[in-house]
Amino acid sequence: MEDFEFVSPTHFVFGRNAESKVGGMLAERGAHKVLLHYGGQSAIKSGLIDRVCASLEQAGIEYVQLGGVRPNPEIGLVREGVALCKENGVDWVLAVGGGSVVDSAKAIANGACIEEDVWELITKKWQNENVLPIAVVLTIPAAGSEASKNTVISNDELGMKTGYASNYQRPKLAFMNPELTFTLPPFQTAAGITDMYCHLLERFFDDVGPVPITDGMNLSVMRTIRAEAPRVLAEPDSYDARANIMWAGMLCHQGLLGMGRHEDWATHGLEHELSAYDTTVTHGAGLACLFPAWMEYVYDANPARFAQYGREVFGLASTGDVESDALSAIDETRMFFASLGMPTSLSELGLDEDNIEDAIDEMIPTLRENKGEPFGSFKKLTMEDAAEIYRLAL
Ligand code: NZQ
Ligand code: ZN
Repeated sequence: MEDFEFVSPTHFVFGRNAESKVGGMLAERGAHKVLLHYGGQSAIKSGLIDRVCASLEQAGIEYVQLGGVRPNPEIGLVREGVALCKENGVDWVLAVGGGSVVDSAKAIANGACIEEDVWELITKKWQNENVLPIAVVLTIPAAGSEASKNTVISNDELGMKTGYASNYQRPKLAFMNPELTFTLPPFQTAAGITDMYCHLLERFFDDVGPVPITDGMNLSVMRTIRAEAPRVLAEPDSYDARANIMWAGMLCHQGLLGMGRHEDWATHGLEHELSAYDTTVTHGAGLACLFPAWMEYVYDANPARFAQYGREVFGLASTGDVESDALSAIDETRMFFASLGMPTSLSELGLDEDNIEDAIDEMIPTLRENKGEPFGSFKKLTMEDAAEIYRLAL
């Protein structure tokens, strides 16, 4: 087991009506003026924003609003948020939405406390201790940003999507009401499930040997997601199915399920380039195409690890041929994503033989900038390997 430090300061309020406690709990923590940050339409249409505003008003908390966060959140709106915080003396940032809103809120919370432009922080990656505290009302289980140390921000002008990690930006409060996820369309539900499952894969496959305590928990959450996913898609109003998926999404990316391991994160790197190249690509959908391709490309570095994954998550019987067991586990992974209605090849996302090389030419330089070379852990990858994986995913 590798050495590690683990920080998880998030106070979770989980269950029906959790969001009604926002105002009271922020007031208890000394909030006076909040930036209320949200996405496009869903939280307004459902009446959630009105309910959150009422809760803040009841607690005597002032707020300024900034909506309009798009999926794959962009630095332009982050800069607007930073300016609003500085002009209004904001002391807490409240994100109401999914990973995109929470990530945008994290970037704003950093930017509000520094003199430099926040894109500089994201790219130069110094550890900024001075961050406004963040609260989250989660509306989609997926990215796990409600407790993670990461934010991922796009810069359209530069054609980049770049992550920034720091324990200081982990949310202090997360309100998680599974009922808020009943309105999710099947595609968003499935993309979220794919993303959270991939957060476990990124942690399970690396170059460290077995870490039974971590691996056991990780595999158990994988099995739970596999069991609950069809249930939540068949019965979108099932409170229990939604609740299990929502809590799983947090566990998948809060960090605990990778402790003592190096973790890999090559496929997330490849996907972020894809979502930067075409900002309409949904993160989970991109991962559904790229993860099986990555697996096929790298499994020979340690087929036994893949065979173990196949046995423990899909219940595959060992054939005695570890290579064939590994390949079966990869097939099962692809079929699982397909069963959720996810695309399984980049051609379903608009790439084909005619444009893939141009896309690769555009993605590789920013991939190199974001990830360095070599990158990944299970198998160290070069930029040529990355290009091959994109081709394999077609
Ligand atoms: O904008 P609105 O109208 O709210 O619609 C959103 C959005 O279109 C909709 N939605 C959210 N909650 C809903 C709902 N629709 C109906 N009912 C609800 N209750 O869902 C769409 C997707 O929302 P988004 O926030 O983009 O989804 P997600 O949580 O998957 O976040 C994706 C972003 O997170 C990043 C991804 O790269 C991507 O930019 N990630 C962040 C991570 C982190 N911070 O730790 C880790 C991840 O690996 C990931 O990279
Ligand atoms: Zn992800």
